[in-house]
Amino acid sequence: MNKRFAILRVVTAAWISLVVLLAGCGKPGTPEQQAQEDMDSKSHLRASYDPIHFKPAILSASNEQCLACHREALEDRVRPASPAGVKAVDTRAWYQQVSTYQGEQDTFHRRHLATPMAKELMSLQCNTCHEGHDPREEAPGSSATGAAQDDRGFTLRKQVNPETTCLKCHGQFPGWELMRLPGTWDEVKHFFKNDCLACHVSTRTQRHLVNYLKADAIEVAAMKAMESGNSADVCMGCHGGRAWYRIPYPYARNPWPEMPEGTPDWAKDRPTHSDPRFTKTEPKS
Ligand code: HEC
Ligand code: HEC
Ligand code: HEC
Ligand code: HEC
Ligand code: HEC
Repeated sequence: MNKRFAILRVVTAAWISLVVLLAGCGKPGTPEQQAQEDMDSKSHLRASYDPIHFKPAILSASNEQCLACHREALEDRVRPASPAGVKAVDTRAWYQQVSTYQGEQDTFHRRHLATPMAKELMSLQCNTCHEGHDPREEAPGSSATGAAQDDRGFTLRKQVNPETTCLKCHGQFPGWELMRLPGTWDEVKHFFKNDCLACHVSTRTQRHLVNYLKADAIEVAAMKAMESGNSADVCMGCHGGRAWYRIPYPYARNPWPEMPEGTPDWAKDRPTHSDPRFTKTEPKS
């Protein structure tokens, strides 16, 4: 009985000294140490509000600057298998079974920045899609800053504006009526050997002169794919082949050399030049 009591006393004493020791550790040392600790605990918040996230700094930010803090954007990979054991290699969606799809399943960011197709045909930058948004404001008008802002261009709960980014490459096929095709592309593609260039060698040729696309590489890829009868797959990749939207994008009609006089009715509201934010060369007119 006595022995037990003694053990209990030792254990209790040990506990008390441990608690005292730990409390001592938590106490600030010098004021300098305290300041450093405060900084460390605030640095995540500080980085979240780094001016680089906002206009105007974000508009001239390089990928390297963003990646210095956001390596996860390019380094994260998808799981090889779902928690239930379904393997990623065995679950290909329809848009992952086209002739242009290469490599393993990959993340959203990597499919736009790092896959073979992304590198060959595009040169998207972080700030092509991320134009800066208010992290406190995930819905319009919900705070004083929101109410004071011009809400046009505000995209609910989104960090990018899908209308000015995604829709350009993931809209519906522009429409066979507008192109004066006799039917949908599936119905008529055999007339054109599945080749968009059949017409587009001479129509709307001032295309893709924007800084996030590799205009020449796109044409080369479409021509190369002619041998295998897959030429249109290259174009469809961004014009209807992965259409996440029910509407087509109203492309600017950059004037081309053989452009007929007069503007068709459907094109009356169209801009005549690509968005200046992205034009690297003066469109020829
Ligand atoms: C100094 C480090 C730093 C730099 C540089 C930086 N970020 Fe961030 N970013 C952060 C931190 C920290 C967060 C908050 C992350 C969190 O809370 O999960 C964040 C959050 C974000 C978010 C999510 C915001 C939200 O509302 O949830 C996006 C998108 C983002 N950054 C994009 C960018 C882009 C694009 C660039 C380059 C223009 C960039 N960041 C540069 C540190 C940085
Ligand atoms: C093709 C357009 C696009 C490009 C290019 C792009 N992003 Fe994103 N990014 C997105 C979208 C869409 C989201 C999800 C936004 C949402 O949930 O509202 C996102 C989310 C993020 C987030 C928030 C965290 C997360 O993973 O959800 C960070 C951080 C981020 N991007 C950083 C970057 C960086 C750094 C780059 C350049 C290396 C980059 N992005 C390039 C479209 C893009
Ligand atoms: C400049 C053209 C372009 C823009 C802008 C663009 N995408 Fe894509 N997207 C592509 C291409 C090309 C692929 C196919 C890449 C590949 O197969 O390697 C793709 C693939 C995808 C995929 C399929 C990924 C997979 O695993 O197969 C999704 C989802 C997607 N994009 C969503 C978006 C969203 C959302 C946005 C806007 C934030 C966006 N894209 C902006 C061209 C674009
Ligand atoms: C029979 C000839 C023909 C074929 C084949 C053809 N197009 Fe077109 N396309 C046109 C014409 C005509 C226009 C409208 C020209 C104008 O602006 O007056 C057009 C316009 C476009 C536009 C711009 C649409 C807009 O809203 O401004 C895109 C994008 C396009 N075509 C992509 C394609 C793709 C991708 C293919 C192959 C899958 C293809 N075209 C096949 C004749 C054709
Ligand atoms: C990687 C994505 C991508 C691929 C591949 C692609 N396009 Fe485009 N295309 C775009 C984008 C984005 C625009 C709008 C650019 C702008 O704002 O001027 C565009 C614009 C166009 C236009 C309207 C051009 C104008 O200024 O009048 C035509 C026509 C067109 N594409 C045809 C094609 C044809 C034909 C192919 C295949 C040879 C093709 N595209 C392949 C993304 C793509």
